[in-house]
Amino acid sequence: MSDTRVNPYTTLPARPVDPALFTLESTYRSTRLPVELASTLLPDAYTSPEFFALERDRLFTDSWVPVGITSDVARHGACVVVEVAGRSIFVTRNRHGELRAFHNLCRHRATKLLDADAREVGRRGRIRCPYHSWTYDTDGACLGTPLFEGSDIPEGQEAIFDTSIATGFDRADYGLLEVAVDTWGLFLFVNLAPNPSPLATQLGDLPRRFADYRLDEWVTQRRRTYDVAANHKLIGENFMEYYHLPWVHPELNKVSKFSDHYRWQGPGMYTGMCTTPVSRNSDAGGWDGLRPLSSLGPQDADSGRFVWLFPSTALVVLPNHAFVLFNRPVSPNHTVETAVLLAHPESLGGEGGDDTAEEGVEQLAKFWDLVNTQDLEIVERVQEGLENPAYRGGRMCFRFEEPLHRFQNMVIDKMVGVDRVPSGDESTMTRMFPDP
Ligand code: FES
Ligand SMILES: [Fe+2]
Repeated sequence: MSDTRVNPYTTLPARPVDPALFTLESTYRSTRLPVELASTLLPDAYTSPEFFALERDRLFTDSWVPVGITSDVARHGACVVVEVAGRSIFVTRNRHGELRAFHNLCRHRATKLLDADAREVGRRGRIRCPYHSWTYDTDGACLGTPLFEGSDIPEGQEAIFDTSIATGFDRADYGLLEVAVDTWGLFLFVNLAPNPSPLATQLGDLPRRFADYRLDEWVTQRRRTYDVAANHKLIGENFMEYYHLPWVHPELNKVSKFSDHYRWQGPGMYTGMCTTPVSRNSDAGGWDGLRPLSSLGPQDADSGRFVWLFPSTALVVLPNHAFVLFNRPVSPNHTVETAVLLAHPESLGGEGGDDTAEEGVEQLAKFWDLVNTQDLEIVERVQEGLENPAYRGGRMCFRFEEPLHRFQNMVIDKMVGVDRVPSGDESTMTRMFPDP
Protein backbone atom coordinates (compact mmCIF):
# COMPACT_ATOMS: atom_id res chain seq x y z
CA MET A 1 0.00 0.00 0.00
CA SER A 2 1.52 3.33 -0.93
CA ASP A 3 1.32 6.42 1.22
CA THR A 4 -0.27 9.17 -0.86
CA ARG A 5 0.39 11.98 1.60
CA VAL A 6 2.74 14.67 0.39
CA ASN A 7 5.12 15.90 3.01
CA PRO A 8 4.28 19.63 3.04
CA TYR A 9 7.79 20.33 4.25
CA THR A 10 9.19 19.63 0.82
CA THR A 11 6.98 22.36 -0.66
CA LEU A 12 8.43 25.05 1.60
CA PRO A 13 11.16 27.09 -0.06
CA ALA A 14 14.78 26.18 0.53
CA ARG A 15 16.88 28.78 2.34
CA PRO A 16 18.08 31.36 1.97
CA VAL A 17 15.06 32.78 0.20
CA ASP A 18 15.91 35.42 -2.43
CA PRO A 19 15.31 38.82 -0.72
CA ALA A 20 13.57 40.03 -3.90
CA LEU A 21 10.72 37.68 -2.93
CA PHE A 22 10.14 39.18 0.54
CA THR A 23 7.61 41.70 -0.74
CA LEU A 24 5.65 39.26 -2.92
CA GLU A 25 2.36 37.78 -1.79
CA SER A 26 3.21 34.38 -3.30
CA THR A 27 6.15 33.99 -0.90
CA TYR A 28 3.73 33.70 2.01
CA ARG A 29 1.26 31.25 0.49
CA SER A 30 1.63 28.65 3.24
CA THR A 31 1.14 31.19 6.06
CA ARG A 32 -1.89 32.74 4.35
CA LEU A 33 -3.76 29.42 4.63
CA PRO A 34 -6.40 29.09 7.35
CA VAL A 35 -4.74 28.56 10.72
CA GLU A 36 -5.59 24.84 10.81
CA LEU A 37 -3.51 24.34 7.69
CA ALA A 38 -0.99 27.15 7.95
CA SER A 39 2.78 26.98 8.20
CA THR A 40 4.72 29.48 10.29
CA LEU A 41 6.18 32.62 8.76
CA LEU A 42 9.24 31.92 6.63
CA PRO A 43 12.31 31.54 8.87
CA ASP A 44 14.35 34.13 6.96
CA ALA A 45 11.96 36.73 8.40
CA TYR A 46 13.82 36.23 11.68
CA THR A 47 17.37 35.94 10.41
CA SER A 48 17.87 37.87 7.17
CA PRO A 49 19.41 41.36 7.26
CA GLU A 50 17.52 42.19 4.05
CA PHE A 51 14.20 41.22 5.62
CA PHE A 52 15.10 43.24 8.69
CA ALA A 53 15.82 46.36 6.63
CA LEU A 54 12.55 46.06 4.70
CA GLU A 55 10.57 45.34 7.83
CA ARG A 56 12.05 48.34 9.61
CA ASP A 57 10.51 50.55 6.98
CA ARG A 58 7.30 48.69 6.32
CA LEU A 59 6.30 47.78 9.89
CA PHE A 60 7.75 50.63 11.89
CA THR A 61 7.51 53.77 9.75
CA ASP A 62 3.85 53.40 8.90
CA SER A 63 2.37 52.30 12.24
CA TRP A 64 1.50 53.98 15.48
CA VAL A 65 4.36 52.62 17.59
CA PRO A 66 4.01 52.70 21.39
CA VAL A 67 7.17 54.37 22.67
CA GLY A 68 6.60 55.39 26.26
CA ILE A 69 4.32 56.01 29.21
CA THR A 70 1.95 58.98 29.09
CA SER A 71 2.50 59.97 32.71
CA ASP A 72 6.29 60.09 32.14
CA VAL A 73 5.74 63.22 30.04
CA ALA A 74 3.39 64.99 32.40
CA ARG A 75 4.71 68.57 32.43
CA HIS A 76 5.98 71.24 30.06
CA GLY A 77 9.53 70.31 29.08
CA ALA A 78 9.46 66.73 30.42
CA CYS A 79 10.53 64.33 27.70
CA VAL A 80 11.33 60.79 26.66
CA VAL A 81 13.89 59.98 23.99
CA VAL A 82 13.03 56.90 21.98
CA GLU A 83 14.09 55.07 18.85
CA VAL A 84 11.74 54.02 16.09
CA ALA A 85 13.00 52.36 12.90
CA GLY A 86 16.54 53.29 13.92
CA ARG A 87 15.68 56.99 14.24
CA SER A 88 16.01 58.93 17.45
CA ILE A 89 12.87 60.85 18.39
CA PHE A 90 11.79 62.72 21.47
CA VAL A 91 8.34 63.36 22.89
CA THR A 92 7.66 66.36 25.10
CA ARG A 93 4.88 68.76 26.16
CA ASN A 94 4.68 72.38 25.09
CA ARG A 95 3.74 75.20 27.45
CA HIS A 96 0.04 74.60 26.76
CA GLY A 97 0.37 71.01 27.93
CA GLU A 98 0.06 69.57 24.42
CA LEU A 99 2.21 66.66 23.33
CA ARG A 100 4.83 67.26 20.65
CA ALA A 101 7.27 64.81 19.06
CA PHE A 102 10.33 65.62 16.97
CA HIS A 103 13.23 63.97 15.29
CA ASN A 104 16.10 64.31 17.74
CA LEU A 105 18.40 66.30 15.50
CA CYS A 106 19.44 69.87 14.96
CA ARG A 107 18.38 71.69 11.80
CA HIS A 108 21.86 73.20 11.41
CA ARG A 109 24.14 70.24 10.82
CA ALA A 110 22.03 67.43 12.26
CA THR A 111 23.68 66.95 15.64
CA LYS A 112 21.72 64.74 18.02
CA LEU A 113 20.10 67.11 20.50
CA LEU A 114 19.11 65.08 23.55
CA ASP A 115 20.77 62.11 25.22
CA ALA A 116 18.92 58.82 25.32
CA ASP A 117 18.31 59.11 29.07
CA ALA A 118 17.12 62.76 29.04
CA ARG A 119 13.98 63.37 31.11
CA GLU A 120 13.86 67.16 30.54
CA VAL A 121 14.51 68.90 27.25
CA GLY A 122 16.56 71.62 28.92
CA ARG A 123 16.30 74.67 31.12
CA ARG A 124 12.93 76.44 30.85
CA GLY A 125 11.77 74.01 28.22
CA ARG A 126 14.44 75.06 25.74
CA ILE A 127 16.31 72.59 23.62
CA ARG A 128 19.85 73.70 22.93
CA CYS A 129 22.12 71.99 20.44
CA PRO A 130 25.43 71.09 22.08
CA TYR A 131 27.38 71.88 18.88
CA HIS A 132 26.77 75.55 17.95
CA SER A 133 23.98 76.27 20.38
CA TRP A 134 21.00 76.68 18.07
CA THR A 135 18.03 76.71 20.38
CA TYR A 136 14.44 75.49 20.01
CA ASP A 137 11.27 75.63 22.08
CA THR A 138 8.90 72.75 22.86
CA ASP A 139 6.84 73.58 19.77
CA GLY A 140 9.96 72.96 17.72
CA ALA A 141 10.39 76.61 16.74
CA CYS A 142 13.96 77.66 16.14
CA LEU A 143 14.38 80.52 18.61
CA GLY A 144 17.60 81.48 17.10
CA THR A 145 21.23 81.11 16.82
CA PRO A 146 23.21 81.61 19.96
CA LEU A 147 21.92 84.77 21.49
CA PHE A 148 19.93 82.94 24.09
CA GLU A 149 20.23 82.29 27.73
CA GLY A 150 22.70 79.55 28.51
CA SER A 151 24.75 80.01 25.38
CA ASP A 152 27.84 80.97 27.41
CA ILE A 153 28.99 83.65 25.03
CA PRO A 154 31.06 86.28 26.84
CA GLU A 155 29.19 89.49 27.43
CA GLY A 156 29.64 91.99 24.65
CA GLN A 157 30.51 89.37 22.04
CA GLU A 158 26.97 88.15 21.30
CA ALA A 159 26.60 90.16 18.11
CA ILE A 160 29.50 88.27 16.52
CA PHE A 161 27.42 85.11 16.70
CA ASP A 162 24.21 86.65 15.45
CA THR A 163 23.28 84.88 12.20
CA SER A 164 19.92 86.58 11.89
CA ILE A 165 21.24 88.84 9.15
CA ALA A 166 22.41 85.90 7.04
CA THR A 167 21.17 86.32 3.48
CA GLY A 168 18.18 84.20 2.56
CA PHE A 169 17.97 82.68 6.01
CA ASP A 170 14.79 82.74 8.03
CA ARG A 171 14.93 80.76 11.21
CA ALA A 172 11.20 80.09 10.89
CA ASP A 173 12.21 77.65 8.14
CA TYR A 174 14.47 75.75 10.51
CA GLY A 175 12.16 74.43 13.18
CA LEU A 176 12.56 70.89 14.46
CA LEU A 177 11.23 68.12 12.23
CA GLU A 178 7.91 67.07 13.64
CA VAL A 179 6.60 63.54 14.12
CA ALA A 180 2.95 62.59 14.71
CA VAL A 181 2.22 61.79 18.35
CA ASP A 182 -0.90 60.60 20.15
CA THR A 183 -1.89 58.71 23.27
CA TRP A 184 -4.16 55.96 24.32
CA GLY A 185 -4.38 55.09 27.99
CA LEU A 186 -0.92 54.65 29.44
CA PHE A 187 0.82 54.73 26.05
CA LEU A 188 2.53 57.44 24.08
CA PHE A 189 2.51 56.57 20.38
CA VAL A 190 4.45 58.08 17.51
CA ASN A 191 3.96 57.56 13.81
CA LEU A 192 6.69 58.40 11.29
CA ALA A 193 4.33 58.55 8.31
CA PRO A 194 3.76 62.07 6.95
CA ASN A 195 -0.05 61.70 6.93
CA PRO A 196 -0.84 58.80 9.23
CA SER A 197 -4.27 57.24 9.51
CA PRO A 198 -5.88 57.88 12.90
CA LEU A 199 -4.58 55.95 15.91
CA ALA A 200 -8.19 54.89 16.56
CA THR A 201 -8.17 52.81 13.36
CA GLN A 202 -5.17 50.84 14.57
CA LEU A 203 -6.52 50.38 18.12
CA GLY A 204 -9.91 49.09 16.96
CA ASP A 205 -12.03 48.12 19.94
CA LEU A 206 -9.24 48.23 22.57
CA PRO A 207 -10.31 51.57 24.07
CA ARG A 208 -13.77 50.11 24.67
CA ARG A 209 -12.38 46.86 26.12
CA PHE A 210 -10.19 48.77 28.56
CA ALA A 211 -12.56 51.66 29.26
CA ASP A 212 -13.06 50.92 32.96
CA TYR A 213 -9.35 50.61 33.74
CA ARG A 214 -8.66 54.39 33.44
CA LEU A 215 -5.28 53.47 31.99
CA ASP A 216 -4.24 57.08 31.43
CA GLU A 217 -3.91 57.53 35.20
CA TRP A 218 -1.46 54.66 35.80
CA VAL A 219 2.03 55.53 36.97
CA THR A 220 5.42 53.87 36.42
CA GLN A 221 6.71 51.93 39.44
CA ARG A 222 9.70 50.02 38.06
CA ARG A 223 11.61 49.91 34.82
CA ARG A 224 14.15 47.37 33.62
CA THR A 225 15.94 46.72 30.34
CA TYR A 226 16.72 43.30 28.88
CA ASP A 227 19.13 42.60 26.03
CA VAL A 228 17.65 39.78 24.00
CA ALA A 229 19.58 37.71 21.45
CA ALA A 230 16.47 37.15 19.33
CA ASN A 231 14.30 38.75 16.68
CA HIS A 232 11.60 41.05 18.05
CA LYS A 233 8.82 39.02 16.43
CA LEU A 234 9.76 35.94 18.44
CA ILE A 235 9.24 37.87 21.66
CA GLY A 236 5.76 38.77 20.46
CA GLU A 237 4.90 35.30 19.27
CA ASN A 238 5.95 33.84 22.59
CA PHE A 239 3.86 36.42 24.43
CA MET A 240 0.70 35.65 22.50
CA GLU A 241 0.42 31.92 23.20
CA TYR A 242 0.16 29.96 26.43
CA TYR A 243 0.91 26.60 24.83
CA HIS A 244 4.36 26.83 26.48
CA LEU A 245 3.03 27.46 29.98
CA PRO A 246 3.61 24.03 31.61
CA TRP A 247 7.20 23.76 30.43
CA VAL A 248 8.51 27.30 30.52
CA HIS A 249 6.59 28.64 33.54
CA PRO A 250 6.10 25.72 35.94
CA GLU A 251 5.34 28.11 38.83
CA LEU A 252 2.70 30.00 36.90
CA ASN A 253 1.21 26.81 35.53
CA LYS A 254 0.44 25.61 39.06
CA VAL A 255 -2.08 28.39 39.50
CA SER A 256 -3.11 29.31 35.96
CA LYS A 257 -5.43 26.70 34.48
CA PHE A 258 -5.48 26.17 30.72
CA SER A 259 -9.25 26.13 30.78
CA ASP A 260 -9.35 29.65 32.22
CA HIS A 261 -7.67 31.11 29.12
CA TYR A 262 -9.64 32.70 26.33
CA ARG A 263 -8.90 34.47 23.12
CA TRP A 264 -9.87 38.11 23.63
CA GLN A 265 -9.66 39.95 20.35
CA GLY A 266 -11.88 42.18 18.29
CA PRO A 267 -11.06 44.36 15.30
CA GLY A 268 -7.72 46.15 15.60
CA MET A 269 -3.99 45.77 15.03
CA TYR A 270 -3.48 43.59 18.08
CA THR A 271 -3.72 40.07 19.40
CA GLY A 272 -5.36 39.36 22.72
CA MET A 273 -5.88 36.71 25.36
CA CYS A 274 -7.37 36.78 28.80
CA THR A 275 -7.37 34.64 31.91
CA THR A 276 -10.70 34.57 33.74
CA PRO A 277 -10.65 34.04 36.64
CA VAL A 278 -7.16 35.36 37.00
CA SER A 279 -4.68 33.17 38.89
CA ARG A 280 -4.22 33.88 42.56
CA ASN A 281 -1.01 34.01 44.54
CA SER A 282 1.57 31.30 44.19
CA ASP A 283 4.88 30.48 45.89
CA ALA A 284 6.63 32.45 43.19
CA GLY A 285 4.68 35.56 44.11
CA GLY A 286 1.39 36.79 42.76
CA TRP A 287 -0.61 39.89 42.26
CA ASP A 288 -2.57 40.19 45.49
CA GLY A 289 -0.27 42.74 47.14
CA LEU A 290 -2.02 45.86 45.80
CA ARG A 291 -5.64 46.96 45.95
CA PRO A 292 -7.77 46.27 42.88
CA LEU A 293 -9.04 49.30 41.04
CA SER A 294 -12.53 50.24 42.25
CA SER A 295 -13.93 51.20 38.83
CA LEU A 296 -13.80 47.69 37.38
CA GLY A 297 -16.87 45.60 36.68
CA PRO A 298 -16.99 42.01 37.96
CA GLN A 299 -15.33 40.49 34.90
CA ASP A 300 -12.45 43.01 34.65
CA ALA A 301 -11.97 42.69 38.42
CA ASP A 302 -11.25 39.00 38.02
CA SER A 303 -9.30 38.89 34.74
CA GLY A 304 -5.80 39.20 33.41
CA ARG A 305 -5.62 40.87 29.98
CA PHE A 306 -2.72 40.10 27.61
CA VAL A 307 -2.52 42.22 24.50
CA TRP A 308 0.20 42.45 21.87
CA LEU A 309 0.03 45.85 20.19
CA PHE A 310 1.33 45.60 16.66
CA PRO A 311 4.14 45.84 15.90
CA SER A 312 6.18 45.26 19.04
CA THR A 313 4.64 46.05 22.44
CA ALA A 314 3.14 43.82 25.12
CA LEU A 315 0.48 45.03 27.51
CA VAL A 316 -0.53 42.98 30.54
CA VAL A 317 -3.26 44.43 32.72
CA LEU A 318 -4.46 42.90 35.96
CA PRO A 319 -6.98 44.52 38.30
CA ASN A 320 -4.26 46.29 40.29
CA HIS A 321 -1.16 46.59 38.11
CA ALA A 322 0.07 46.61 34.55
CA PHE A 323 3.22 45.26 32.97
CA VAL A 324 4.41 46.61 29.63
CA LEU A 325 7.19 45.40 27.34
CA PHE A 326 8.52 47.79 24.71
CA ASN A 327 10.61 45.87 22.18
CA ARG A 328 13.08 47.77 20.05
CA PRO A 329 14.59 45.82 17.15
CA VAL A 330 18.34 46.39 16.82
CA SER A 331 19.24 43.72 14.26
CA PRO A 332 17.66 40.49 13.01
CA ASN A 333 18.83 38.65 16.12
CA HIS A 334 19.03 41.43 18.71
CA THR A 335 16.21 43.23 20.49
CA VAL A 336 16.31 45.62 23.42
CA GLU A 337 13.32 45.18 25.66
CA THR A 338 12.22 47.72 28.25
CA ALA A 339 9.87 46.36 30.88
CA VAL A 340 7.73 48.81 32.84
CA LEU A 341 5.64 47.93 35.86
CA LEU A 342 2.78 50.35 36.55
CA ALA A 343 0.02 50.78 39.06
CA HIS A 344 -2.92 53.11 39.50
CA PRO A 345 -2.41 55.50 42.47
CA GLU A 346 -5.59 54.06 43.97
CA SER A 347 -4.01 50.58 44.06
CA LEU A 348 -1.07 52.03 45.96
CA GLY A 349 -3.39 53.30 48.68
CA GLY A 350 -4.02 56.85 47.46
CA GLU A 351 -1.88 59.82 48.32
CA GLY A 352 1.54 58.86 49.65
CA GLY A 353 0.74 55.14 49.31
CA ASP A 354 0.24 52.73 52.18
CA ASP A 355 2.85 50.66 54.01
CA THR A 356 2.23 47.40 52.21
CA ALA A 357 2.11 48.93 48.75
CA GLU A 358 5.89 49.10 48.37
CA GLU A 359 6.16 45.46 49.37
CA GLY A 360 3.41 44.59 46.88
CA VAL A 361 5.21 46.41 44.07
CA GLU A 362 8.47 44.68 44.92
CA GLN A 363 6.79 41.27 44.88
CA LEU A 364 5.23 42.01 41.48
CA ALA A 365 8.56 43.20 40.09
CA LYS A 366 10.21 39.94 41.17
CA PHE A 367 7.36 37.84 39.81
CA TRP A 368 7.39 39.47 36.37
CA ASP A 369 11.17 39.40 36.19
CA LEU A 370 11.04 35.63 36.75
CA VAL A 371 8.35 35.06 34.13
CA ASN A 372 9.98 37.40 31.63
CA THR A 373 13.42 35.86 32.05
CA GLN A 374 11.95 32.42 31.45
CA ASP A 375 10.30 33.71 28.28
CA LEU A 376 13.41 35.43 26.96
CA GLU A 377 15.60 32.37 27.53
CA ILE A 378 13.33 30.16 25.47
CA VAL A 379 12.95 32.81 22.77
CA GLU A 380 16.75 32.98 22.40
CA ARG A 381 16.79 29.22 21.87
CA VAL A 382 14.19 29.60 19.13
CA GLN A 383 16.45 32.13 17.45
CA GLU A 384 19.37 29.69 17.57
CA GLY A 385 17.27 27.02 15.89
CA LEU A 386 15.99 29.40 13.23
CA GLU A 387 19.52 30.35 12.23
CA ASN A 388 19.99 26.79 10.89
CA PRO A 389 18.95 26.78 7.21
CA ALA A 390 17.85 23.15 7.52
CA TYR A 391 14.66 24.53 9.10
CA ARG A 392 12.23 25.80 6.46
CA GLY A 393 9.17 26.44 8.61
CA GLY A 394 6.85 24.64 10.99
CA ARG A 395 3.15 24.06 11.42
CA MET A 396 0.81 26.12 13.57
CA CYS A 397 -0.77 24.42 16.52
CA PHE A 398 -4.18 25.87 15.74
CA ARG A 399 -5.75 25.63 19.18
CA PHE A 400 -3.15 27.81 20.76
CA GLU A 401 -1.55 29.68 17.93
CA GLU A 402 -4.35 31.53 16.19
CA PRO A 403 -3.00 34.84 17.59
CA LEU A 404 0.42 34.03 16.04
CA HIS A 405 -1.29 33.39 12.76
CA ARG A 406 -3.15 36.70 13.05
CA PHE A 407 0.09 38.51 13.91
CA GLN A 408 2.17 36.89 11.17
CA ASN A 409 -0.51 37.82 8.65
CA MET A 410 -0.34 41.43 9.84
CA VAL A 411 3.43 41.30 9.23
CA ILE A 412 2.85 39.85 5.76
CA ASP A 413 0.26 42.54 4.98
CA LYS A 414 2.81 45.24 5.73
CA MET A 415 5.56 43.48 3.77
CA VAL A 416 3.44 43.14 0.64
CA GLY A 417 1.62 46.48 0.98
CA VAL A 418 -1.88 45.31 1.95
CA ASP A 419 -3.69 47.94 4.03
CA ARG A 420 -5.89 45.93 6.37
CA VAL A 421 -6.94 45.91 10.01
CA PRO A 422 -7.90 42.39 11.08
CA SER A 423 -11.46 41.82 12.13
CA GLY A 424 -12.07 40.12 15.42
CA ASP A 425 -13.61 36.97 16.79
CA GLU A 426 -17.38 36.80 16.86
CA SER A 427 -17.66 36.87 20.63
CA THR A 428 -15.80 39.04 23.13
CA MET A 429 -14.19 35.99 24.69
CA THR A 430 -13.54 32.79 22.76
CA ARG A 431 -12.90 29.60 24.67
CA MET A 432 -10.06 27.65 23.09
CA PHE A 433 -11.30 24.20 24.05
CA PRO A 434 -14.68 22.58 24.13
CA ASP A 435 -15.77 21.83 27.69
CA PRO A 436 -14.69 18.31 28.70
S1 FES B 1 24.65 71.37 14.51
FE1 FES B 1 23.31 72.15 15.96
S2 FES B 1 23.92 74.16 16.17
FE2 FES B 1 25.25 73.38 14.70
FE1 LIG C 1 5.57 32.90 28.70
